[in-house]
Amino acid sequence: MVAKVKGTQDFVDLVLYNYIVNSASKFLDEYNYKQIKTPILEHLDLFKRSLGTTTDVVNKEMFIVQQEGEKKNPICLRPEATAATVRAFVDNGIQNLPWKVFSTGPMFRYERPQKGRYRQFHQLNIESIGSENVYQDAEFIKMLDKFFSSKLKLDNYALQINYLGSFEDRKNFSLILKKFLETVASKICKTCLERKDTNTLRVLDCKNPDCQEVYVAAPKTIDHLSAESAAEWQKLQETLELLSTSFIVNPKLVRGLDYYNKSVFEFVSSDLGAQSAFCAGGRYDALVKEISDGKQDVPAMGSAMGIERLMLLLENKEILIEEKPLHVLLPVSEEQYVLALLVAEELHRAGLATEVLLDGSSLKSMMRKANKLGAKYSLIIGDEEQKNRTVLVKNMFNSQEDTINQPKLVEFIS
Ligand code: HAM
Repeated sequence: MVAKVKGTQDFVDLVLYNYIVNSASKFLDEYNYKQIKTPILEHLDLFKRSLGTTTDVVNKEMFIVQQEGEKKNPICLRPEATAATVRAFVDNGIQNLPWKVFSTGPMFRYERPQKGRYRQFHQLNIESIGSENVYQDAEFIKMLDKFFSSKLKLDNYALQINYLGSFEDRKNFSLILKKFLETVASKICKTCLERKDTNTLRVLDCKNPDCQEVYVAAPKTIDHLSAESAAEWQKLQETLELLSTSFIVNPKLVRGLDYYNKSVFEFVSSDLGAQSAFCAGGRYDALVKEISDGKQDVPAMGSAMGIERLMLLLENKEILIEEKPLHVLLPVSEEQYVLALLVAEELHRAGLATEVLLDGSSLKSMMRKANKLGAKYSLIIGDEEQKNRTVLVKNMFNSQEDTINQPKLVEFIS
């Protein structure tokens, strides 16, 4: 037996997974988001340029694909979908703005696996490219909140928001934070010391409790915004309040990827333990410019939900998932097999979920099997029924039996 790759999972039951994806697709359709699909393979360079070379994802977590004889332009398994969506936007010359799209699929990060953290995981990614202002940020965040509360009916979660300001503000703040870190250098962990010079904002994300104690006194992005950014930050909070969206300001929320500016947010739930964020995102106004080599300058915003984490939140909840009732055909002997297959054809044509038992077992054991399969009706065809062109229909919930003419079967059971 060859074991599965560390950090990957088999989904042997996709009911919950599909429930999340289908609910989101339907919901996003109401907001005029269209589904797209981009490749799992992308050039490593795409993520170096967009996420930043000093981020953990690019530095430590990439799955590089070995290409025979091709070393110049390495390919990797995508670690996230935003950069790829922007690449697709530029590559396909999309002109109609805003480009409101979503996609789902596997992402790959070489992280230490634990509950809610995998090396192959799935995201539902939503982007609005050409989204310009803070009202659109509020609308986007409100839309997500509505999906979690009204559609998925999650109850134990919080929305955390922060504001990074313009890229200029972000750069200034980085210097301010660095100065602060120098004053506390002897009290912070080795990783934070390294990040102080390479990816300064990320120190605020450190999970080490000693560092967190020190960072209580750290400067906050929202206290160092330009007048224009401060006014937008104010507007974001006011608009969310007017839209009845509860939020918590988390000044330490800086996000792990370099492309963000202005609004950033995370939906978190204490039910998830350490990996508490099940959806995260923000504004990335400079990414289109970066990826199009400066040819296009289009502001944008987006987010990604972690599907496995949503599954963890939903697994103990009673969810009404509508499944088609199953009908099982039981030909009593081989003489009735072809007839059973023809009747099944008829049911399939009418859109009814149908299974035929052709394993030669006794009627009793076929009945047991039909019961295990969760059949609504067992449809028995023996010598008598074959001769009379009928089917013995047994309702598996109340055991009622009816003999129905074959041409009337679809009408009877639908
Ligand atoms: P992210 O925060 O890296 O952002 O990931 C988004 C979500 O994906 C997380 O909140 C989490 O639920 C899930 N996730 C991330 N890593 C793992 C993992 N190793 N195992 C399981 N779930 C995971 C992004 O990826 C951005 N591209 C989001 C975005 C879209 N920003 C703008 N547009």
